[in-house]
This record gives sequence, C-alpha cells and structure tokens, in this order.
Amino acid sequence: MSVNYDYSDTPRIITPPPGPKSREYMEKEKKLFFAAWYTNKDVPLIMRRKYGWTIEDVDGNTYIDMVTGWASTPLGAGYEPVIERAIEVLRESGGIECTDYVTDIHLFELAEKLVEISPPQLTRVAPDTTGTEAVEAALRLARETTGRYFIITFHGSFHGGNYGAAGAGPTSPDVTRGIKEYIHGFIHVPYPTCYRCPLKQTYPQCNLACVDWIEDVVLRYETAPETIAGVLYEPIQGENGIFIPPDGWMERLHAMGEKYGWMMIDDEVQTGFGRTGKMFAIEWWPEVAEKVDLMPLAKAITGGALPIAAVLGTDEAMTSSDEIYLGGTFAWQPAACAAAAAGIDALYQEDVLEHVQRLEKISLERMKAWIDKYEIVGDVRIKGLYNAIEFVEDKETKKPAPKITREIHYACIRRGLILINEEDIWWLRMLPALNMPEDLFVRALDILEEAILEVSRKYGKGVK
Ligand SMILES: Cc1ncc(COP(=O)(O)O)c(C=O)c1O
Repeated sequence: MSVNYDYSDTPRIITPPPGPKSREYMEKEKKLFFAAWYTNKDVPLIMRRKYGWTIEDVDGNTYIDMVTGWASTPLGAGYEPVIERAIEVLRESGGIECTDYVTDIHLFELAEKLVEISPPQLTRVAPDTTGTEAVEAALRLARETTGRYFIITFHGSFHGGNYGAAGAGPTSPDVTRGIKEYIHGFIHVPYPTCYRCPLKQTYPQCNLACVDWIEDVVLRYETAPETIAGVLYEPIQGENGIFIPPDGWMERLHAMGEKYGWMMIDDEVQTGFGRTGKMFAIEWWPEVAEKVDLMPLAKAITGGALPIAAVLGTDEAMTSSDEIYLGGTFAWQPAACAAAAAGIDALYQEDVLEHVQRLEKISLERMKAWIDKYEIVGDVRIKGLYNAIEFVEDKETKKPAPKITREIHYACIRRGLILINEEDIWWLRMLPALNMPEDLFVRALDILEEAILEVSRKYGKGVK
C-alpha cells in the first residue's frame, strides 16, 4: 500500500459525544431538515471533516471510520490521486454539462475501464448518478429487452430509496412505506438468510428449498415464466445484515433464469470494486459471473470523490431499445468520470483485493470466536470487508436484541469507533476503507469487543 494517512491521533475522545458544538448543530438540524432526517439519530454527533480512515466531529473528537460514506470511499477519505484528478478535470472541462446531449471526452476512459474489468459479456455502459437510478435503469432495460414485465426480487434486499428501487427491495416496511401500494411488477421471494431461514429449514438438509419456492409457488400459483423479465438480486445481501448465499444457491438460481429466459441482474452497488475481496462479488461464483446480463454499480465506483453510477450490460440488454431515456442531467459529469477512472486504477495499484482478504482472515478468526464467548452474539457473517455481527437476547430462541445492539454501538462511539447501526436493527456492520491498515482495523475490533463486554456485563449476559 502506498497511501499513509496520519492516524496517530485516532481514536481520540476529548469530550463525550455529542459534545456542546454537536448539540448546537443538532438543535439547528431539528428546525431546518425534514423530520425523518433528525429523529432517532443513529450517530449523535456532527462531522467537521473526514480524513483517511478517520472522522472528526465539530467538538474535536476523532473516530475510526467504519462507515466510509456507506462504502463510497474505498481508498480512505481524501485519496489524493482521485481528488486531484477530480479538481483538475472540474477546472479543465468547465464543470457541469448534460453529457448525453453534449458528450465529453472524459466519459470514454471510464466506460472502457469498466468494460475491461467486468465479466467479458458485459460490453456496454449506461451512465447514471446514484445506485438507485442504476438499479431502476437495469429494470427498465430488462423489461425493454424481454418485452415482459415482472421482476423477481428477494425479501430483505435493498436496492435504493426511490419508488422503483424501493418497490423492488423490501428490506423493511419503513423502506416501502407509502410506496408499495403504488408500485407493481415485483414478485418477492425468500433469500437464503440461513441463520433465520424464512422456511424454517436448515442448510444443507433443506436442499435449497428457497430456490424451489420460485417454481413451486410463484410459477405454480402466481404467474407464468414468460411474464417474468428478470431476477434482481444482491450477490450478498447487505442492508439486511450480510447474508452470504450458501454453496449451490447462486448456480441454481441462474440455471432457473437460463431455463426461462430471465435477465439476471446482479446488483453490485455495495459489493462492487473490491468490498468482498474480488473486484465484483459475483466472481466468487465464476461460472455464474459470465451469465449476468445487467450489473448496476455505484458507491465505490466514485473512488471517494464525486457522485457517479453505471449499469453494465450485454449487447443484447443494452441495444434492444434505442428510445429509452436513462441517466439524467448529472449523469457522468466529466470530473466524476475522471476521478472514478483514477479510483479504479488505484484499487489495483494499492493491491486492495489481497489486503481485503488479509483483513478478512483477521476478522474471521477474531469475530467468529465471539459466538461461543458471548451469550448475546448470535451470528457473525463475513466476506472480505463486508461483515455483520448479529445480537440476540437468547441463543436458543434467537430473539433479536435491537436495544442491546444500539447500546453496544453507543459504547463504541464513546470510545471513538463509528459502525453502522440503524434504528430497531439488531446487527452491527463495518464498512472500512479497503486499504485500512491492519493495526487500525485490529484496534477497531478491540474497541468493539470492549463494548460487547461492557454491555454484556450491564445486562448480566454470559461471557466465557
Ligand atoms: C445493494 C444496493 N443497491 C442499491 C443501493 C442504492 O444506492 P444509492 O444510495 O446510491 O441510491 C444501495 C444503497 O445502499 C445498495 O446497498
């Protein structure tokens, strides 16, 4: 790794969060923003800046950053070659242009790079600005190509927040609230969330009953296969608490898609660009990777600089219609393209894939042991630097423990570590930069374990 941000001061807590300045801003927030923005504030502080692997709040505290803009700063915050390139091209190109109308030269380098690093059948690009848009573009392309309308998606999946994408991925009733009643055309089926199998089965004795569900239930009772345009899936479910499909699931799903002529849409918005230890998570299933028809990308594609997203697709998926309007005014701004291209180069130069696999080993060894050690740790799921730790009231009943989870997160924040935990959720996730140094990563695990111990003791829960 060539990058070396100074983190000698991280973590450093000089005033317990939220400090006085954060409180002041949080009061202002309540007057200025819409209600869902500030109620149930998951991270009670206001950030002054990010630097490297660190978040600094307005009160001068520094935290280890395990959020990274929800996986959007894969090289740490302020990665110079990417930021420099963004600024350079912002100046050179003159700023914003509607690039599907007056196409800028900087788009080509990124498009070529994306095609080069993705599975070989994905030969074309549709520009977008956010992951939500990229998912919705992929849905439209699948429907346009097949002339069919239904899309199969999975319970627990998250594909974005606007009407189409939120309608596709029912992670929770909050995400689809006020949307579900208007958005049609999705058929939701069980994902292999094996720790909490919705079919109450156990792998491998289940023989992947959740895939059979599609034929046994959907095709038998709901609709014929020729009404289905495609299947939209996360290769590893992220927002739902990192569920990694067991052996055989992905192959069986794709075989079914092939049998009925469904377009397979692999949503790599969160898993793409090295997060799981491969450039794209689907590469963990090599025979299947070459059968993907459409692949939405966002987040880490940015290299941490400017918003940008894309859909990659096969010739067939991308040329079936020359009339469809995708993207938008801000899609593929010249500076965002140049920065994204520099970010992709850096992922290779920094050898992040090897590093991610190294850190994965450390977290697997350390965190898996917590299942036996702590009564409240129900499950630990890890692939690369995509991981979740799930907390339960009771290991036998697996009763979810959202209150305990939140207290553990607050205990982490008080020690200078920010993870991902949202309201009423009983798992914590870490999305570190892919080049986080080993000692800082281990320090984060130490803090997390101290917090688990503190809260276990508070609730009189067992510790071995
Ligand atoms: C798998 C997946 N798809 C799509 C999205 C939506 O991306 P965005 O927030 O950029 O619209 C997300 C966001 O978390 C995601 O995790």
